[in-house]
Amino acid sequence: MIRLGWIRRHGNSVDEGVDRADRTPAASGSRPGEELISVTSKATGDAATRSRLTDLRQALRRFAPRLAGLQGRLILPYVILTMLIAMVGTYVITRLVTSSVRERFTNQLYEASRVAADELVRRERSHLANLRLMSFTEGVAQALEAGDRTVLTALLTPLALNYEVAAVSAVDLDGREVLTLLRDPDTGQMQALQGSDFSDFAPVVNVLQERVDELGDKYSGMMPITNYGAYMFTSAPVHVSGDRLVGVLMVGSRLQDLLVGMKAQALGDMLVLDESGKLMVSTLVEPEEGFAILELTPEEASSLTVPLSREVTLYGRRFQVVYTPMLLRRQQIGELGVALPSSYVVSAEATSRNTFAWLFSAGTGVVIALGYWLAQSIARPIMRLRDMSQAVASGDLEQASGMERPDEIGELASAFDTMTLKLRERTAEAARLYDETVKRNRELAEINQRLQETQQQLIQSEKLAAVGQLTAGIVHDVKNPLAVIKGLAEELKEEPSIPVEARVHLDSIRANAGRASAIVTDLLTFARQSTPAMVQRDICEAVRASLRLTEYLTRKGKVTVVTDLPDTTVLVTYDPQQIEQVLINLINNAVQAMPDGGTLRVTLRQAGEAVAIAIQDTGNGIPPENLSRVFDPFFTTKKEAEGTGLGLSVSYGIVTHHHGRLDVESQVGQGSTFTVLLPVEQESTG
Ligand SMILES: Nc1ncnc2c1ncn2[C@@H]1O[C@H](COP(=O)(O)OP(=O)(O)OP(=O)(O)O)[C@@H](O)[C@H]1O
Ligand SMILES: [Mg+2]
Repeated sequence: MIRLGWIRRHGNSVDEGVDRADRTPAASGSRPGEELISVTSKATGDAATRSRLTDLRQALRRFAPRLAGLQGRLILPYVILTMLIAMVGTYVITRLVTSSVRERFTNQLYEASRVAADELVRRERSHLANLRLMSFTEGVAQALEAGDRTVLTALLTPLALNYEVAAVSAVDLDGREVLTLLRDPDTGQMQALQGSDFSDFAPVVNVLQERVDELGDKYSGMMPITNYGAYMFTSAPVHVSGDRLVGVLMVGSRLQDLLVGMKAQALGDMLVLDESGKLMVSTLVEPEEGFAILELTPEEASSLTVPLSREVTLYGRRFQVVYTPMLLRRQQIGELGVALPSSYVVSAEATSRNTFAWLFSAGTGVVIALGYWLAQSIARPIMRLRDMSQAVASGDLEQASGMERPDEIGELASAFDTMTLKLRERTAEAARLYDETVKRNRELAEINQRLQETQQQLIQSEKLAAVGQLTAGIVHDVKNPLAVIKGLAEELKEEPSIPVEARVHLDSIRANAGRASAIVTDLLTFARQSTPAMVQRDICEAVRASLRLTEYLTRKGKVTVVTDLPDTTVLVTYDPQQIEQVLINLINNAVQAMPDGGTLRVTLRQAGEAVAIAIQDTGNGIPPENLSRVFDPFFTTKKEAEGTGLGLSVSYGIVTHHHGRLDVESQVGQGSTFTVLLPVEQESTG
């Protein structure tokens, strides 16, 4: 029961399972029920999975027919691969570019620091040159020794103005400021100031202590001057009469001005920190959170030997700041900082990322378009071949691909064309064979028909032969007594004693005996079936003779005779007497079939090796059921005295002996046609 229900539910695919279930228990010897159930449940699972897969495949086919096709199989993996490569490529190159942009950025900062450091060195050199000039100027040393502020001012102001020095300071041996001349940043005029304390300023202290390092007795340092900001000073000792130190002379530059110049070159904001990491000067506007954010701790400042990079937030933006030690005369006098907004990097990164993304998108587009074109060029001819195959399958054998390509598709197309050509040839051959078969069949049917006719004739001949033998005996026995009767009747009539009435009866006896004898003679002719005496003669003569002999009959029967005979001689080998007898018989029958008169048409035609004589009447015709019997001996529809039923059978026998044929066609009410067919050539016997 399970099995039956199961088969109905799952159809073909399960038949395998059933087969297996049927076979396995017999082989393994396990109980049939168990085996069947286990196999069934496993197969059910398989079938479900399979049907789900089929569903999925069908859904895919429905929704994306092109993707499921050849084009999809070619294009889809190609597109996925191209996009993957494009994405990975964009990522890698963007990363590379980004890192190089960052590197360039950092390098730019280092470069800015270097430019600034160089500028400081240049500035120091110019300080030294100016110091040399000033300290050797006549009267400067003496005025310093004397603490003469007026003379110093008078001597140094023109020099400072002339050499564009921003600051000049003179300090006596006790470290007290004698004079400070500062250039007013607004007016450019030199102003004499007082009030700065240089006693702890390292460049001053070093000179006053007459320290000399490997570079000499000059020192540099930075120092803030009230209301003017920080300055970078270079100090030099001032001596009189050879080597007696009388004070220190310093030339300085305003750091703010220096930084503004550097900023123009470095393209970033500059800042200067003192030795302890405190901010001294900056080109940046002070942020809300103060400059402290840009400063270094004393530890960081003192341990700064290589550039230090740091990111800070100023004005709500990210800045990258690079700190480098500020070295002058091999001494660290502070730290130099260069700051650049990080957005510069970010925007450079974004720009390059966008550029590459665009480039890769365009490249991907081009590659996909190329791939599509390629797939099309492969898939299109294949699809064309598919369409043509379908057309060929549905009977259109005139298909030809017309493709000429040097590749495998070309070979496929050529194979297809060859196949179609062969198919065409085979189909034509099949059609020819079919026609041939039909023709042969028809011939066979004709042969069969002839065979049947021949068989019919054979039967007819046999019938005739049987009747002939029988008749020959009877005729022999009857003919002699008839001759005696006839002879005696004639003799008796000559007897004078015979009364007149008796003579009339004797005439009647003689006539009837004669008549009986004639019938018996006919029968004998029929029975003998004597071999015809063949002569070669014009057959038309026989026809004309027959018509002449029946002229009385036709006239009497009001029958119009129409003849259609050839003008030329038609030589046929035949027995004239016998054939005339046949034709007379046929004409006789025709006239008898037209009791109220009609038309008798006699035609002679030669067709190849045979002649056909047709006797056609417009009489009452022969009913179909009698057609096959008319040639039978003694078959007659006529009254007893009128016909014996031997005419046609005798005629049939004669024609057969001539190796000919006697045919009949008839339509009741319309008439009949009897045709005598005779071969032209016969073995002549006469
Ligand atoms: N032209 C014809 N039209 C119609 N029936 C015919 C024709 N010729 C022959 N028949 C039929 O065939 C029968 C046989 O003819 P057949 O000539 O052998 O004998 P018969 O004419 O009857 O007698 P017989 O010729 O011996 O005097 C006829 O009785 C007649 O029924
Ligand atoms: Mg007859």
